[in-house]
Amino acid sequence: MAIFVVTGSASGIGLATRQRLAAAGDDVIGVDLRDAEVLADLATPAGRAAAIAAVLQGTRGCIDGLVACAGVGPEVEPWSSIVSLNYFGAQVLLDGLRPALAEAEAPAAVAVSSNAATLPNADTPLVDACLAGNETGAREIALTLDGHRTYAGSKLALARWVRRNAPGADWAANGIRLNAVAPGAVLTPLLQRGLDHPAYGPAIRNFPIPLGDFGSPDQIAAAIVFLLSPEASFCCGSVLFVDGGTDALLRPDEC
Ligand code: NAI
Repeated sequence: MAIFVVTGSASGIGLATRQRLAAAGDDVIGVDLRDAEVLADLATPAGRAAAIAAVLQGTRGCIDGLVACAGVGPEVEPWSSIVSLNYFGAQVLLDGLRPALAEAEAPAAVAVSSNAATLPNADTPLVDACLAGNETGAREIALTLDGHRTYAGSKLALARWVRRNAPGADWAANGIRLNAVAPGAVLTPLLQRGLDHPAYGPAIRNFPIPLGDFGSPDQIAAAIVFLLSPEASFCCGSVLFVDGGTDALLRPDEC
């Protein structure tokens, strides 16, 4: 039986991932603010450290897979909290649990980015601050942007961090496959809060989805579980768009 750690496991995509893994007979350690084996606030350095320590203790330092899924949407204020959770809450957990992944036989990790990462205004100095590990700087920059650009920038930074690190000494050379999924609009409580927002609601509804409708959490979970599985044993540094065709429609030649 494999042991998987899933952050954001209490709701939406993280919950659907947890359910798929559990249905296959695997052990899941959820990390969330509520309804999880490990209760921790991943938006804070202390919460991340406590989460890593609790996971290491509960697993004797060996895990087969990690899904960094916890995140908040662009409507959350202050905007600095978006980057603290969406980028640092994922990247710090991935790095902190990497030694435990290295102990497993065929380990894999998946970061949950977003197709918002490819929006034209996503690439701001916030992305560089994230990739430099400068959380204080990233939080300050977020306050000069807005929720949407902070959200998109945090997800772009996360995808870039995966691309930069997956093929390198810490990950691929250690036998750990690191990949990302980039979901489009998926009907979860996070998306619902956006739909209920006076500014973001109309923008989300106007976003084109060639396959016709919002995605379901389980459609994203299926892609995550695939990337964790031996079926994806040649995937390394991939950013898998699972978005009903939105990215292909908007950026057909970006490949
Ligand atoms: P959700 O709101 O259904 O679930 C998010 C989970 O994260 C919740 O269980 C929540 O308690 C947890 N969480 C929030 N703040 C936390 C904190 N400080 N520490 C620990 N856990 C915390 O959201 P959803 O939609 O399932 O999102 C999951 C991931 O997918 C997020 O990273 C989100 O940015 C990403 N995503 C979602 C899309 C969507 O349309 N729903 C689209 C693209 C990406």
